[in-house]
Amino acid sequence: MKKLLVGFMICIIGFLGIWLGFHYFMKKPNPYLKKGYTDQELARIEQLSEENQAYLLEADYYPNLLSYLDAEGMQEELLKDYILFEQLYGLGIEETIFIVNHHYNDVASYDENTIALMHGTYYIHEYLERYLKYENNLTITFDSQEAMRDYVITAVNSNLDYAFYTLDESANLEKQYLLLVNKYYKLSEDYVPENLVTIASTYGASLLLESTVYEQYKLMWSAAKQEGLSLYIRSPYRSYRTQQTLYNRYVAADGKAVADTYSARPGYSEHQTGLAFDVTSPSTNFDTFEYSQEFEWLKNNAHKYGFILRYPKGKEYITGYMYEPWHYRYVGVEAATKIYETGLTYEEYYAYYVR
Ligand code: DAL
Ligand code: ZN
Repeated sequence: MKKLLVGFMICIIGFLGIWLGFHYFMKKPNPYLKKGYTDQELARIEQLSEENQAYLLEADYYPNLLSYLDAEGMQEELLKDYILFEQLYGLGIEETIFIVNHHYNDVASYDENTIALMHGTYYIHEYLERYLKYENNLTITFDSQEAMRDYVITAVNSNLDYAFYTLDESANLEKQYLLLVNKYYKLSEDYVPENLVTIASTYGASLLLESTVYEQYKLMWSAAKQEGLSLYIRSPYRSYRTQQTLYNRYVAADGKAVADTYSARPGYSEHQTGLAFDVTSPSTNFDTFEYSQEFEWLKNNAHKYGFILRYPKGKEYITGYMYEPWHYRYVGVEAATKIYETGLTYEEYYAYYVR
């Protein structure tokens, strides 16, 4: 009886051993668990795209996986890039996500200045090298790193890392009403805008202006009239030759350096686009217009008709011209409104939104 019981026990133990051995050899452990991922991580991995699952399988164990998957702004399709970027540069999760999401993950080094620049509102990635170079050569001191960063971005976006009249590029006519003409972008000697029309004497001097600009100006003129205000265009379209005559006259009177602060050289004047004009009221001139009610009204309403004050006070270093309360430029209602709201110069607006 005792022998029978011992035999039976041996049989049971034998079967159990065979059963366990079978399972041990037949059932492969989960490859992610084998890599070191926890059950919790595995559950999340199983919810990822096939591509990400395959990548995690081929890559080494990545300890920060859950932190990335739970991070704000994380885009699952960029998971591989986050991991590679983090491993390469060792930046924090927030910076890594910011840089990869913006596709700024293609530069050689990420020091404090580079990252600060990337966070600038009007940062243009293509200009990074120029920003860094400009920043290195700065001799001005700033209250904060943000102030310096914003200054550098404004300057480079406006091409101030080149001296005026040294870039010598042609203005991009395809931009139509968003065309930029300044001390870097010029018009050819023979450029004459299409659709020039003559201004009726009610609205200003009987000279030429682009037709849409004229229509918008008339709407603005009528709105001002409703408020008891009068606008009067003094100087709209000017040909290359007219600008040449004017500029030469100013140079003879004041010298080149001074003339350059208030007059464009021929080919570099917005007046040649037909999209700009100098306006005052009938009873004011260029010296007194700034103090008129008409000017006050234009400051707050011109954008509704697509016009911007092109050479604002305090922005002389960007536009290259002294403050001109009388010079308005048509850019369309959308751009004009944005410029009115942000306080950007057209140089800055063009770099960030148009170019
Ligand atoms: N006065 C402006 C800058 C021009 O000459 O076009
Ligand atoms: Zn002007």
